Amino acid sequence: MEILVKKGDLTESKCNVLVVGMFLNEKKSVGVLSDVDAKLGGLLAKHMKQDKFKAKPGAIYLSRTFGRMSAVRVLVVGLGKRDEFNLEVARNSAASVLNSVKSLKVKRVVIEPFGLAQGLDGHDLAQALTEGLLLADYEFAQYKKAEGKAPNEIVVMTSDGRLARSFAHGIDDGKLTSQATAFARDLVNTPGQDMHPEVLVEKAKQIAKGASSVKIKVFDKEKLERMGAGGILGVGQGSEKPVFLVHMVYKPSKPTKKKICLVGKAVTFDSGGLSLKPADFMTTMKIDMAGAADVLGVFSVIAKLAPKMEVHGIFAPVENMPSGSAIRPGDVVRMMNKKTVEVLNTDAEGRLTLGDMLVYACKQKPDAVIDLATLTGACVVALGEEISGVMSNNDSLSEKVLASAKVAGEKMWPLPLEQSYKQLMKSDIADMKNLGNRWGGVLVAGLFLEEFVKKDVPWVHIDIAGPAYAERPINAYEKKGGTGHGVRTLINLLKTF
Ligand code: BES
Ligand code: ZN
Ligand code: ZN
Repeated sequence: MEILVKKGDLTESKCNVLVVGMFLNEKKSVGVLSDVDAKLGGLLAKHMKQDKFKAKPGAIYLSRTFGRMSAVRVLVVGLGKRDEFNLEVARNSAASVLNSVKSLKVKRVVIEPFGLAQGLDGHDLAQALTEGLLLADYEFAQYKKAEGKAPNEIVVMTSDGRLARSFAHGIDDGKLTSQATAFARDLVNTPGQDMHPEVLVEKAKQIAKGASSVKIKVFDKEKLERMGAGGILGVGQGSEKPVFLVHMVYKPSKPTKKKICLVGKAVTFDSGGLSLKPADFMTTMKIDMAGAADVLGVFSVIAKLAPKMEVHGIFAPVENMPSGSAIRPGDVVRMMNKKTVEVLNTDAEGRLTLGDMLVYACKQKPDAVIDLATLTGACVVALGEEISGVMSNNDSLSEKVLASAKVAGEKMWPLPLEQSYKQLMKSDIADMKNLGNRWGGVLVAGLFLEEFVKKDVPWVHIDIAGPAYAERPINAYEKKGGTGHGVRTLINLLKTF
């Protein structure tokens, strides 16, 4: 499916479906809608009224044009209330259009840049429309046939040449974010059998091979032993699969001192280890590498994105399995910063791998570290399935992340690093233990990570346990499965940092 912009008259365009937006509860149709209605002799408005069509966000009304227009059909998409229209409504409405034309199995669709009258920037609107269309079109078809048939091309049409140029840029940016998101979704959706540590390493190597601006270092078990990465090694020791630490570096063409580290949890399957998860909690645990999938998603487009700072991608792929060689509840590991941790629950494994990764990240002397992790069920209890939790030692950095998330249409919410809860991690025999008591599990996990971040390094932790994977359709462009939640926020951040 190709999305492109063309200069032209919408009402004259030849296509299978002409898509026009409509706001809710407006007495008279305006703009393109009223032009189309005029061509159809007022029948469109009349029929919509008779059928009691309400232009709620994403609602669809499909009509034939009976030879009165060059378009075979007109598809009216609801945009909700005019004063509530924003980029997220645009994204969702575009997605709803795609879902609907997919079932029509047509070739060419022409779409009005709906909502433009609301004063949105042309570039941003076109990007949101493109994201809605492409993300809705995503299907994971590695193990069964794809179901829908998307149109060959979707043309965003405007008669204004200057707008057409900013649309073209917006469409390109939307393609980039969608491609990166789809990359992450594929990794998350792939079962643990086919997405084990070696595969994640291979994915990173392929990205580096395809982009001269990206270099990669891979540390194996022996090297990790020398580095003292007891957390990563401890979590991985029960699996037959090897463990790694992957460090990707993107350098911009113009040398710069600015450096940002993106760190992702990369547990390719989380059985819980010897603190085995109940069966029902384990069924989706192939998604426990979603943080790393986000980082790889960003790196899959980073050469094209061409941010102006150095970007480091760091993740440690491991599999958390129970076995005769697995780490035991009560074992003590020594982390990369020499702190000892009593592992009282082997299912709280993410923080052990991340602790080492954060120590390693801080050694790069970065201006910012951002980690993404499907870290705690407690975060899902606190914020639900759609919102990730944001914890930080630096208000200005976390505000930047939250602002980027808002523009990207990804829901994130700040949570406190409540220092008094640190005492909950006191251990009888080690510097700390890897869990607290029953309460505030998401915060305790964040506080645990903070122990491995250098005080003067601005750091944001994003717990994506809820939104990384949709157990039910969330909206028109996030269906059941991996969502790639986080990718678009990171890309926005890299653009504006
Ligand atoms: N990977 C899980 C967290 C998770 C839960 C991600 C649900 C996505 C959906 C993590 O490793 C884990 O098991 N955490 C435990 C921590 C507890 C033992 C302190 C949890 O949240 O129950
Ligand atoms: Zn776990
Ligand atoms: Zn986990």
